[in-house]
Amino acid sequence: MDSVRVFAPATVANLGPGFDVLGLAVTGPGDVVEARRTDAPGVVIEEITGDDGRLTHDPAKNTAGVAAAEALRIIGAQGGVALRLHKNMPLGSGLGSSAASAAAAAWAVAILHQFEDKSALMPACLAAEASVSGYHADNVAPALLGGMVLIKGYRPLQLQTIPIPKKLVIVLVTPRFELPTAKARSVVPQSVPLCDMIINNGHLAAMIAACFRDDAIEFGKAVVDAIVEPARAALIPAFSTVKSAALGQGAFGCSISGAGPTVFAVCDSRPAGERVGEAMRAAFSAAGLESAVNVAVPDMAGARRIAG
Ligand code: HSE
Repeated sequence: MDSVRVFAPATVANLGPGFDVLGLAVTGPGDVVEARRTDAPGVVIEEITGDDGRLTHDPAKNTAGVAAAEALRIIGAQGGVALRLHKNMPLGSGLGSSAASAAAAAWAVAILHQFEDKSALMPACLAAEASVSGYHADNVAPALLGGMVLIKGYRPLQLQTIPIPKKLVIVLVTPRFELPTAKARSVVPQSVPLCDMIINNGHLAAMIAACFRDDAIEFGKAVVDAIVEPARAALIPAFSTVKSAALGQGAFGCSISGAGPTVFAVCDSRPAGERVGEAMRAAFSAAGLESAVNVAVPDMAGARRIAG
């Protein structure tokens, strides 16, 4: 095969208590990478669309380029690859945009070389993510593998896929401003009081237990973060009123998606999700911020080949 098109989905990282260790792929927007084999070694980025000209074409500095180069190295491929990257979600939105590009590029290279082991590509995706937004796998792992992924450890990288409650509906409301992940990570406390660690540990354990019990309601109630959300809330205008609006309309839990500014809420049906999403949108609007609503469900496939 000489060329391929690959899609990788948006992801919700942290999910409340699981900072840097839990992430979920969701339906809706995602990035597309077109990849073509070249005789010349290395990676060339021929085109980027949907980024308003803001992303670099330098493959050493672009998350898709880094992931593709690392994937070629892992596979031991001869020759190189030319990429066209189509961004379909806003940059710095908390939806795992850089991770989607990395996962799509790595999987595209793998398909071109009949390489079928997605997990073996994780180091490529993680290296790419680290080059632009910090060393964390909670976006790239679900973007590549699909579903919900727990990062048990980083050195060595240990991943565990987690079953997802069947009724889980995730409402994503993305206000129209950019919050660079590096900035959002700079406000995260480097040490935490034991009492806050206990809150987060308890809720993360409750969340995983809810997954194994197929309980979307208890999953939502476990969206509690005493450590990172309080530090980042000030970076998102109206965050507390948006969260109150979600909970007031019956969401079971609400927090910041990844590094933000997207805010996510947990529901157990699409009609409830629509109602909650509209209340959250109106709360952002009252604060003078336009936002986009996506009532999503888990994306179980992760990076995959698409037609065209
Ligand atoms: N876990 C990361 C963070 C995700 O919260 O900084 C970034 O998308």
